[in-house]
Amino acid sequence: QPKLNGRDFLTLADFSKAELNFMLNLAQHLKKQRKLGREEQPLKGKTLGMIFEKSSTRTRVSFEAGIYQLGGTGLFLSSKDLQIGRGEPVADTAKVLSGYLDGIMIRTYSQSLVEQLAENATIPVINGLTDDYHPCQVLADMLTIQETKGSLKGVKIAYIGDGNNMAHSLMIGSAIMGMDISVASPKGFEPDEAITKKAVDLANQSSVVVTNDPVEAVANADVIYTDVWASMGQEEEQKAREEIFANFQVNDYLVAHAHSDYTFMHCLPAHRGEEVTASIIDGKHSVVFQEAENRLHAQKALMVALMG
Ligand code: CP
Ligand code: NVA
Repeated sequence: QPKLNGRDFLTLADFSKAELNFMLNLAQHLKKQRKLGREEQPLKGKTLGMIFEKSSTRTRVSFEAGIYQLGGTGLFLSSKDLQIGRGEPVADTAKVLSGYLDGIMIRTYSQSLVEQLAENATIPVINGLTDDYHPCQVLADMLTIQETKGSLKGVKIAYIGDGNNMAHSLMIGSAIMGMDISVASPKGFEPDEAITKKAVDLANQSSVVVTNDPVEAVANADVIYTDVWASMGQEEEQKAREEIFANFQVNDYLVAHAHSDYTFMHCLPAHRGEEVTASIIDGKHSVVFQEAENRLHAQKALMVALMG
């Protein structure tokens, strides 16, 4: 059994295939127990603080319900209301919160702020989304792919759209777990070069491809994944991005190039008529609500592994 207790979860790159597999198996187990009405409470008496500097539906509710189901308590902490919003140093905040809590989940802009929080906290810190990464989402996505495709090995993911936090975590996660991934983005919106290099370095049995051609990326894909064209914090770029990304819509024409039994995935929230048509996201290949539910099970496994 891998040693995960006390660790931070800032990026998937910090974890081995065996460690991620351990969490995925635990997630499967917890999901089954919940469906059977036989839940255990391994985090009885533990408290998770959840700092949010950006909006959230899934991350907030799945972490809060999840810690509660495990026997613990979740505290929603808006960064606007914390002293951090008035300039209290992150390091001081980390040291103070470490005295009260058993774990911290944070959603913010800067990955380095999350790293600073983790360096100064003596309790596990979980990245609930930054501009660079969304590792909790990809943990749930791996669970979903396992459920729909039977295993991760040999699966090809096509990610169509912005080379953003989702693209980055999918690339890193795929590389570690041995899935092939092709990312298609408009020129100038490709994934970060250093993160792409990291994914390529991590991949030993699978491929990491970055292209500007969505048709090339989707060819023979088992999973087609997309995300919003304008992420949180990029709202003022919405109009410009609608033009730039127009050829990167996941629609009936594009998916015709994938395997006939492809699965459609999206982290949500989605914008029908922009990055994906209703025919696809509401169609029979879509698993987006199973994927959203799996946030709960995957993060419960994560919390048990780190905080248990
Ligand atoms: N996918 C996801 O993280 O959703 P929220 O922004 O609603 O948390
Ligand atoms: N890329 C999106 C993901 C939302 C879950 C964003 O950062 O807003």
